[in-house]
Amino acid sequence: MGMLQRLFDLSGQVALITGASRGFGLEFAKLFAEAGAVVVINGRHAETLQTAADVVRRHGAVETAAFDVADIPAGEAAIAAIEKTHGRLDILINNAGMNIRKPLDDYGVDDWRQVIEVDLTAAFALSRAASRGMVRRGYGRIINIGSVLSVKGRASIPAYTAAKHGLLGLTKSCAAELGAAGVTCNAIAPGYFETEINAELLARPDFVKFVNDRTPLRRWGKPEELAGAALFLASPAASYVNGHLLTVDGGMTTTF
Ligand SMILES: NC(=O)c1ccc[n+]([C@@H]2O[C@H](COP(=O)([O-])OP(=O)(O)OC[C@H]3O[C@@H](n4cnc5c(N)ncnc54)[C@H](OP(=O)(O)O)[C@@H]3O)[C@@H](O)[C@H]2O)c1
Repeated sequence: MGMLQRLFDLSGQVALITGASRGFGLEFAKLFAEAGAVVVINGRHAETLQTAADVVRRHGAVETAAFDVADIPAGEAAIAAIEKTHGRLDILINNAGMNIRKPLDDYGVDDWRQVIEVDLTAAFALSRAASRGMVRRGYGRIINIGSVLSVKGRASIPAYTAAKHGLLGLTKSCAAELGAAGVTCNAIAPGYFETEINAELLARPDFVKFVNDRTPLRRWGKPEELAGAALFLASPAASYVNGHLLTVDGGMTTTF
């Protein structure tokens, strides 16, 4: 195997990717499977996951784990099952996410709790569960999918902005605590991409134009344009990268 291949090779590794029934997660799964990992894809619906698994299988080894990431015991059980079957879990990508958009005055406490549970608390609980085995084995990679909203703010998405800022804090805390055991924790901050989470925004020509005008690359991202960043952070190429927020936003957050 040449140097280039060795840097991005995931052979023999097992990766759990949450929210991989579509969007970013599905793109990560395809690329990670092609890089040699056994990829366990998660989503809430077993049937949708099977369809996604059929796509990923064309690239390599794939398994499914259907659970709601807000169900903490279910996530812990899924990690225990992966470790029982494979004897390891090397990579965790906390990618599952959702958003509720409403003005602050209309934002219910239930709305707030739902977004925080799915976008932040789940990442904490899954990282905690996965890190135990990773620390024992002396190797692991945790990657949290944040957002440009991990570092910036926008109106009418208070819970999402708080959750994504929190995810960056979680990333830094885990990086500090787990590094000594050979486990890294990093985050990715995507800008605006054409996926289902943005369906509402993509249907608004004014918002599509706002993103185009606001982004130096003058366009939205395509989900497959994020996968290389995740592979980098999971691969031997990033062996000394820890606690980093990798922005993939066409330059949006560097300008104003
Ligand atoms: N697209 C963007 O522009 C953008 C920008 C910044 C950050 N992000 C972040 O990127 C991540 C992926 O989003 P995406 O753009 O790929 O959106 P997406 O196409 O809507 O995908 C979201 C994924 O999360 C899963 N999911 C949602 N709630 C879940 C739950 N409670 N338990 C388990 N799985 C759940 C969905 O699967 P099921 O519905 O089948 O359960 C789906 O696979 C999210 O964390 C999002 O905040 C996206």
